[in-house]
Amino acid sequence: MCGIVAYIGKQPAFPVILKGLKRLEYRGYDSSGIALFGDMVNTFKKKGRVAELEAWDEEIISEATVGIGHTRWATHGEPSDANAHPHSSNSGRLTLVHNGIIENYASLKQELVQKGYTFKSETDTEVLVNFIEDIQINNNSSLEEAMRIALKRVVGAYVVIVMEEGFPNRLIAARKGSPLVIGVGEGEHFLASDASPIIEYTKKVIYVNDYELAIISPDEIILKNLGNEPITPYIQQLDMELAQIEKGGFDHFMLKEIFDQPGSLTDCLRGRLDMENLTLTLAGVEEHMSVFSQAKRIIIVACGTSWHAGLVAEYMIETLCRIPVEVEYASEFRYRNPVVGEGDVLIAISQSGETADTLVAIEKAKEAGAFIFGVVNAVGSSIARLSHSGAYTHAGPEIGVASTKAFTAQLTVLAMMAIKIGREKKTITEAEYNRYLAELALIPEKVKAVLETHESIKEVAKHYADARDFLFLGRGYNFPVALEGALKLKEISYIHAEGYPAAEMKHGPIALVDENLPVLFIATKDAYYEKIVSNIQEIKARKGMVIAVISEGDTLIRGMADHVMVVPEVDELLAPLVSVIPTQILSYYIGVLRGLDVDKPRNLAKSVTVE
Ligand code: F6R
Repeated sequence: MCGIVAYIGKQPAFPVILKGLKRLEYRGYDSSGIALFGDMVNTFKKKGRVAELEAWDEEIISEATVGIGHTRWATHGEPSDANAHPHSSNSGRLTLVHNGIIENYASLKQELVQKGYTFKSETDTEVLVNFIEDIQINNNSSLEEAMRIALKRVVGAYVVIVMEEGFPNRLIAARKGSPLVIGVGEGEHFLASDASPIIEYTKKVIYVNDYELAIISPDEIILKNLGNEPITPYIQQLDMELAQIEKGGFDHFMLKEIFDQPGSLTDCLRGRLDMENLTLTLAGVEEHMSVFSQAKRIIIVACGTSWHAGLVAEYMIETLCRIPVEVEYASEFRYRNPVVGEGDVLIAISQSGETADTLVAIEKAKEAGAFIFGVVNAVGSSIARLSHSGAYTHAGPEIGVASTKAFTAQLTVLAMMAIKIGREKKTITEAEYNRYLAELALIPEKVKAVLETHESIKEVAKHYADARDFLFLGRGYNFPVALEGALKLKEISYIHAEGYPAAEMKHGPIALVDENLPVLFIATKDAYYEKIVSNIQEIKARKGMVIAVISEGDTLIRGMADHVMVVPEVDELLAPLVSVIPTQILSYYIGVLRGLDVDKPRNLAKSVTVE
């Protein structure tokens, strides 16, 4: 949540920070602000999108070469100019941007109020900046020293970047629980919540770790821990191109990312699936194969769309590997008292690799002795680093807030894991193994074939753009696809949508069915096909409108449904990889037809770094 960008160097800081904030808007977009160093610190902040900052029209914006910026997703206090970051201390000496939540802010604020501090905003951040200043005054200490003391007392997650009057050539940043990347340049440095604002300028980066402080000037980066011990920075080379994070001619990132999928799935399979030699290589699994093959059970933790990928994985792993699998919402797992320990494998699935609940769930399971495997998209992210082993999904940067290509890449990695472990355990035959590899190899082409039908899906969207509610139903491997389809539609179109296993319909949701309710069936050819045909008949008998995702050549459901979206036939284990595509396209077009900002749906953020 929230995006942070800072620059210190030789070029005007304002355009660098502004462009960077636009790239990070997916992390939050209810207000934003920038502070620049001139003779003194100047701040401009506004409610609304980052573009509002373009209204800042003073000389400072072309002169200042040092600054910090922030795009906000509100936690404490509504979106407003006053609550937008940066925040300054009462004396005006310190100015700070913050990503995260200070959980003990109320008691800190009380202390400060008693000492006479006043507050212009309702944010925890304004408390933090004054708390640091108060320590600095009381202890007569440097900013660095005051930050170390303050951050030891702060409960919660944070990345902060602080500017101090009188020190125009220095920024101090610190991290605990929220991400921070430093871009290393020549006589200039960049700081950001992820690498997307940085890659245009440098590919050399340092990922700051928890409890580290970075003291940055144009020519130097000093890293220290909170105990004031120096740390040698580890500089990595980014493997990412600017073109990967730009729209490439599409109207929206979401549409681009939906259309990216044949390429992103090919990237995910590249170097892993070798059809010439009929091999599947997943280094992170192979290096720890005995852990998987001897696992008593597998626990999958994730949130949102990634949790849906986990549900599909449960079906895949139990079928192919005969290992019991439990799929948990990370937010529930971390707070209940789960039975977990040695012999358990915990798979954490996350696009961003920064989701706070998933991170803490991992920490908890790791402490209890479980082996942690991360299925993560963002390279170098916190979850990737916290895991014992893992497999990147290689979907490339996902900017649209609604997850699309990350989901299918997650499914692909999870399928490869199940196939690989199943073969090792001999719970699948060699013939089955070879058949799954052949099916996997065809998936990018089959996804492409679905994308080619997007105009006809757009026509379907026109019929349902004014719907008030939607029901999504599926069985077996397609049940999680129904959940995912419903989630995508509600995020993008604000239409109320629910997903259910089709057979559960009779246990309640059927009461909703009338001539106004669109019911979308994921009804591809699989072991449940006849059952789902009966479910469709039950809806038609109650005058419900039926839209169905069907397999090519299916004339039976085509004849029953009001509208169909056709996908190529695929083995049922891999069916979600193609059956989800029409639901993504449908949600996209319905959102666009309703005039909504599909890339940045209200109230959402791409990376949920607060619980
Ligand atoms: C839905 C969506 C969210 C995320 C969830 C987990 O389109 O994007 O539901 O899936 O916030 O995020 P990650 O995968 O980054 O942990």
